[in-house]
Amino acid sequence: MKILIKNIRSLIQVETVIEQKVSGVEMCKLPCLENSWLAIENGKIRAFGEMKDFPGITDWAGLTVIDATDKLVFPSWCDSHTHLVYAGTREKEFVDRINGLSYEEIAKRGGGILNSVKKLAEASEEELVQSALKRLNEIMMMGTGAVEIKSGYGLSLEAELKMLRVIRKLKSLSPLTIKSTFLGAHAVPAGTTKEKYMDSIINEMLPRIADEKLADYCDVFCEKNYFTKEETVKVLTAAKKYGIKGKVHAEQLSHSGGVEAGVECSAVSVDHLEFVNDNDISFLKKSLTIPTILPGAQWFLGLQNPPARKMIDAGLPLAIATDYNPGSCPSGNMNFMLSLACVQYKMTPEEAINAATINSAAAMNLSETYGSIAIGKQANIFITKEIPGYSFIPYSFANDLIDTIIINGKLISPLRH
Ligand code: NIG
Ligand code: FE
Repeated sequence: MKILIKNIRSLIQVETVIEQKVSGVEMCKLPCLENSWLAIENGKIRAFGEMKDFPGITDWAGLTVIDATDKLVFPSWCDSHTHLVYAGTREKEFVDRINGLSYEEIAKRGGGILNSVKKLAEASEEELVQSALKRLNEIMMMGTGAVEIKSGYGLSLEAELKMLRVIRKLKSLSPLTIKSTFLGAHAVPAGTTKEKYMDSIINEMLPRIADEKLADYCDVFCEKNYFTKEETVKVLTAAKKYGIKGKVHAEQLSHSGGVEAGVECSAVSVDHLEFVNDNDISFLKKSLTIPTILPGAQWFLGLQNPPARKMIDAGLPLAIATDYNPGSCPSGNMNFMLSLACVQYKMTPEEAINAATINSAAAMNLSETYGSIAIGKQANIFITKEIPGYSFIPYSFANDLIDTIIINGKLISPLRH
């Protein structure tokens, strides 16, 4: 299939030389091509340029032409942190929080992560696949083209394997590019000790998961009442032996040393970061680890803001992801995450778009194929409705501004008005 998009008001995030990530002041730059065209062939971006230089169409065979007058074309969002395989929902805890309980208090009463663990245990693999496919479809229609999905609602060998097998099935069923993460160290399950559970993660789960090649990454929830910095290092070091790279849930509810642990283990990313301090920022500066903020979870739980401006001003690359999960962010809408980052953290639209494309692609090791409009990259893009410019996306928050989705070079939704 060939697609030509003509008369594009602005083609966003164009790259001639592929960057692995954008850091610090560079995040303010967003290269765009006004009044332009984009050609897609065999699932890849074939060419682009300005309309004034448009070479014309020589071969009409199998060509779909889309007129994008007054519309913008973006590379798909990359969502590098989700827990979108889950069973049931947790709106009761949402109401409990409205009535004054904290996320921690709810967790101590057996709610929180352990509530989802109970619900997942009762669900079949097929049910989990079907509900996750619906969520994948939903985020695809909101502009996401590549996504990471974690386990972590299993917390036993069999249940973690079940989750990871569901994610493997999703990889084959969904047109989206999916990365899988083993998050056995998400919480300690009921009826065992931390020691025994750590032993099971390291000596039972990891070898089996590595053997079945079920995980691209290994993650740990480094937090008071969950896993310490030392335990985080232990799990990530064990994973590294199998060639599985680390990620960390770090500094979300308190300062717990997750950033240091992540940097020490050369983690691909450290995520959340509400309680990041100056020391952490210095550690990150000396590393390749991508700091990732999850504005939806911070906002939904009413946590303090992560120091996003400070991290960018210190020269760091910052990524944005959703954290889509039933407890702390029951939404996978990347557009809304951008609005939150701009309004709450004073990130500029350029910084937020860089964070949700090039940098979040880097947080999944997908820089070569996703995150920008570049020749040879995967043709995962979206066309907006008629909007004046890219700042309109975070500005016009919670509105559906997407008109057309193209994934792997295929038109997913027809133009709708
Ligand atoms: O990223 N912080 C830990 N894990 C998830 C929450 C999961 C849940 O509440 O179910 C998070 O916010
Ligand atoms: Fe998370």
